[in-house]
Formats: sequence, structure tokens, C-alpha cells
Amino acid sequence: MGEGRGFGKTILFGEHFVVYGLPAIASALGSTTTAKVEKADVQGYELIDNRPETPGYKERKKKEYEKLIENVINFMGVKEGIRITLGGKLVAASGVGASAACAASLARAINDEFQMNWDDDKINEAAYEGEKGPHGTPSGIDNTAAVFGGLLRFKKNLEGGPNTIEKMQIREPVEIVLADSGKTSSTKEVVDDVRKLKEEKPDEINPVFEEYKSLAEEARKALIEFDLQKVGQLMNKNHGLLQKITVSNSELDEMVGIARDNGALGAKLTGTGRGGLMQALTPGKELQKKVAKALEEKGYAVFRTKIGGN
Ligand code: PMV
Repeated sequence: MGEGRGFGKTILFGEHFVVYGLPAIASALGSTTTAKVEKADVQGYELIDNRPETPGYKERKKKEYEKLIENVINFMGVKEGIRITLGGKLVAASGVGASAACAASLARAINDEFQMNWDDDKINEAAYEGEKGPHGTPSGIDNTAAVFGGLLRFKKNLEGGPNTIEKMQIREPVEIVLADSGKTSSTKEVVDDVRKLKEEKPDEINPVFEEYKSLAEEARKALIEFDLQKVGQLMNKNHGLLQKITVSNSELDEMVGIARDNGALGAKLTGTGRGGLMQALTPGKELQKKVAKALEEKGYAVFRTKIGGN
């Protein structure tokens, strides 16, 4: 039996802007998705999906995952029937890179089962193909974080050449809180809407992209200098820019407000938006607990984790 895993991730800065070639910063999470692959007497593949989920996620994403799995299988040239078993602690939800973690773990497990000896760059290519199922035109940041882990700055090469992947180090891992809006959104739809908005209202939207460009540089510097106050402020600013491109919603805005009111250094949506997750920067166990509790009291499911540690 072949086995593999893929990291969940959170985007600290730059979701959506990354699609247009601007740099984004993502961190792998401690939780992973695991895949087991074994040859089986079936047509194509059989899927046993034991991942924990946000209610309704798997059903809503069924078709997209079918494409994801087919893409990975085809890209890796698997001709035999296989049984795929997904598991691990990463909760399948919008915003944690669940599909990318699945694609990465599957590619690694196929590589293991069929002794293909692919290196991480090739595995990343396979995971990217998989991501096209749920995303349509993925930037590549999710699968890169899922395959390589760690904290990374990612810049898509719009000419089709290799993307820029910079591994970043911070002084020590920092506590964050992720909170779930309970809504599952479609990355493809939301990315399409941003594209339309950009085309229809360039005078309004292009300046937002310009603003993000300088924010991205400041964010990189603040992280390297471990200036967490500044990182938090920039997260708040990034959330404001995401609101302007219409990818936030009332639940995300409410969660961001609760996190800030309870002392988070900064808070923003993470990932696709219009559902999925909010992330708050809460250095230290005490602050993390306080912010998590406040969100839970309002009925939101929370995950406590760290960035910069995997
Ligand atoms: O919702 P997630 O975690 O899959 O993140 C999507 C990130 C986007 O920037 C919106 C799309 C992309 O391909 O980078």
C-alpha cells in the first residue's frame, strides 16, 4: 500500500491578488490530510473519504473532487484500478486548502504505491493538476504549501514559467485562531466574480491591487523582523482590501470584529472568502484562548493552531 500526506494551509496575505501575479504569503498548518492508495479490482478508482468535515462540504464539492482525483490519476499515468482512502486531522472546509492537501497526499501515495520516484517538484505539478478540479485556474499557492509545508512567499509566473517560491523563516511559531463561517463557497465562482469585477470597474478595482502590492512587501518585512503588531495591522488592512473586491461576507466580517474586540493583533478572512474561514493573529496561548472562546460563544467552530512551525 502507498501512503502520502499533504499539509493544510492558511493564506496570511494575498488570496485573490495572487491569481494576478502579486506575491502572497502562506503557512502550512500542523494538520494534514493523509492518503492511502492500493491496487484494486475496480474500474478507475474507489474513494473512501474518512476526513472530518464542515457539515455539507463533501456533498457540495463531490463533482470537483471527482475532477481533482481524475486529474491527478491521469497526470501520473495510472492505468490500473485503485482504492483511495483519505483521512488525517485536517478538517475538510473552505479556506484551509483541503483540496490541495488532498491532491498532494494522493500524488504522494500514488508515487509510493507505484514506486515512481518523483521528487517534490513533480509531486507539486501533479497536485497542481488536481487543484484545477476545484479551482479552474488555481494560482498554485495552495498545492505548493500542501506539498512543501513551512512558511512561504509565492508569486505566480503569469507567462507560464516556474513560479517563485521563497521559503521564509520566522523567529518562532505564532498562535493563530481559525474560525469557520459554516458556509462553503466555490473558489471557481468567487475567482470568476473578481475577474468580472476587475473588468467592469477597473478604475475602482485596479487601485486596490496597487495598494495590495505595497502591502505585500511590508508584510514580508514585518514577518521577517517578527514585528507582530505590524503583521496584525497589515492583516486588518488586507481584510479591508478583500472587502473592496467583494469577497468577504457578513459572517466573516462579524468574526473579524469579534477577534479584534478580544485583543487579536489582526484578523482577516483566509482563502476564497464568502464563507470558509477567518484567521486571527493571537500570539501566546492566553490570547489565543480568549479569542477562540469569544468566537465559540457566538456559535462559530474554531481551530487553534500555529503559523511558521511546520
Ligand atoms: O479557499 P482556498 O483555501 O482554496 O484558497 C483559494 C485562494 C485563491 O487565491 C482565492 C485562489 C487561488 O488559486 O490562489
